[in-house]
Amino acid sequence: MAVLASVAAVTPAGTARETGSAQVEDTTETGGSEWRMPPVPMTMPMLPGMRALRPPARPFLPGAEIASEELPASVPRKVIPLSDGDTLRLESTIVRHRVEDRTFVMYGYNRQIPGPLIRTEQGATILVQFRNEIGLPSTVHWHGVRLDNRFDGVPDVTQEPVEPGEGFEYRVHLPDAGVYWYHPHVRSDIQQDLGLYGNLLVTPRDSGYYGPVNREEVLVLDDLLAGPEGLFPYGREAGTHALMGRFGNLLLVNGGRDWEAEVDRGAVVRFFLTNVSNTRTFNLSLPGARMKVVAADIGRFEREAWVDNIILGPAQRYTVDARFPEPGTVPLVHRIQAIDHFRGEFYPEVDTLGRVRVGEKAARPDHTAGFDTLRAGGPPDTLRQRLRARSDDPPDRELTLTLRQRGLPQSFLGIMAMDTLYRPPMEWNDMMPMMNWVSSSRTVEWIFRDPDTGRENMDIHWRFQRGDLIKIRIHNSAGSLHPMQHPIHLHGQRFVVLEQDGVSNDNLAWRDTAIIPAGSTVDLLVEMSNPGDWLLHCHISEHIEAGMKTRFTVEAPE
Ligand code: C2O
Ligand code: CU
Repeated sequence: MAVLASVAAVTPAGTARETGSAQVEDTTETGGSEWRMPPVPMTMPMLPGMRALRPPARPFLPGAEIASEELPASVPRKVIPLSDGDTLRLESTIVRHRVEDRTFVMYGYNRQIPGPLIRTEQGATILVQFRNEIGLPSTVHWHGVRLDNRFDGVPDVTQEPVEPGEGFEYRVHLPDAGVYWYHPHVRSDIQQDLGLYGNLLVTPRDSGYYGPVNREEVLVLDDLLAGPEGLFPYGREAGTHALMGRFGNLLLVNGGRDWEAEVDRGAVVRFFLTNVSNTRTFNLSLPGARMKVVAADIGRFEREAWVDNIILGPAQRYTVDARFPEPGTVPLVHRIQAIDHFRGEFYPEVDTLGRVRVGEKAARPDHTAGFDTLRAGGPPDTLRQRLRARSDDPPDRELTLTLRQRGLPQSFLGIMAMDTLYRPPMEWNDMMPMMNWVSSSRTVEWIFRDPDTGRENMDIHWRFQRGDLIKIRIHNSAGSLHPMQHPIHLHGQRFVVLEQDGVSNDNLAWRDTAIIPAGSTVDLLVEMSNPGDWLLHCHISEHIEAGMKTRFTVEAPE
């Protein structure tokens, strides 16, 4: 296992750690204040001239000014049941967090990584008293929740950033069942990556919404980039890794690498999955178990479906039921087709993220029959007909996804031109770690372009009326300098994917985030149900920093 974790050939660039003092050594890895070379897989040739390149920003890691023994250790995620009207205090602070035998300086909500798991009921409104103690401006965004616009947590759109030492009270109304998540909307490339993320699990009003299971597991999938000296620094004034986003080399489930569950033979387990990584797309499977997919981000599929694997882009969620028929160990596996851009080769990579231990004892009650039934769900019939009726209509709005560079080194441009010959629709790994690292939001601009007006990014600003069903056609240009997929997220509303590349989708589910593969054209049908000023952006954290966002307004008639 751990192919992805086998980091090799790292050059420590002048950051020797002091060792050998007589006192007990504090092993917390605080990193350094100088750039060092990014971890690069051994198979990759170092291109001439690249060793001298640096991103145009100072390196940043948190807590450099604090002695690490003064930092509190992180604690495991706690489940916080909240009823309508209840209040949660949520404080972001700097913590020490252990991953296997290493300790990193990170951020936690209430010292937890992941943050508290908020369990509440559909229709509830909860109050969250947020305090920001991480030393950087922050906010909390309630991803996928169709809440009141004032509490959406977007700096300079719905609120001022929350300065260090200050707070903000969020009123979070939860109209939909399922799994949601919260994270900062300021420099998420740093803050979310370092541990500021947590789930909300909203139980349905209708007790027959899901089929019966023996237990539930809420899994947060993430990755972290670390070298021998500790976490790899972030860009202080500008985001690094602007091309492909920052891929980590430690894959994490619920903040660690030791996730395990013990179940009885024949148990049916409901997994609520969330991908909180900056850019990595997960391809998950449970070899030895049978899986059926039940729900996407905001609601059930029209029909439950048997699946071999689940592809989960940044910010996406899936609800998956799995049955474990035989005693033994079932690994939770992430399996990808990696590409070596330099050789033009694809090769498989497999990482075991955790394991389910299945005992001899038969699970009680026996939910086999319920599991074997593929249930119907999804948007109600009348709505479904309205959605489908729009299939042949022309789009109401269009967006083209592309990229502009200013001042990337010539050597890069040559390699990138070569690289686009392969044009994989999905980028599963970072096979250009040097080029990716030194590209920043100063040299790379990711672009939404509205072909009707020629406007780009924040200048687009569409307007809709509450109640509109708007078809947005998104075309991800294969001809750009670096074609890759983008997980596109709309705030405050829900949508279905109507079709992709001319093939209509015969199993609709409400979503808030959809992957648009390189070269693809995808039609979203958005229900403009929630008034206010909202963002539409790529959820790759580094792409937000590099401009890939716009705003739209939903107006409510008086
Ligand atoms: Cu989860 Cu605007 O983001
Ligand atoms: Cu993107």
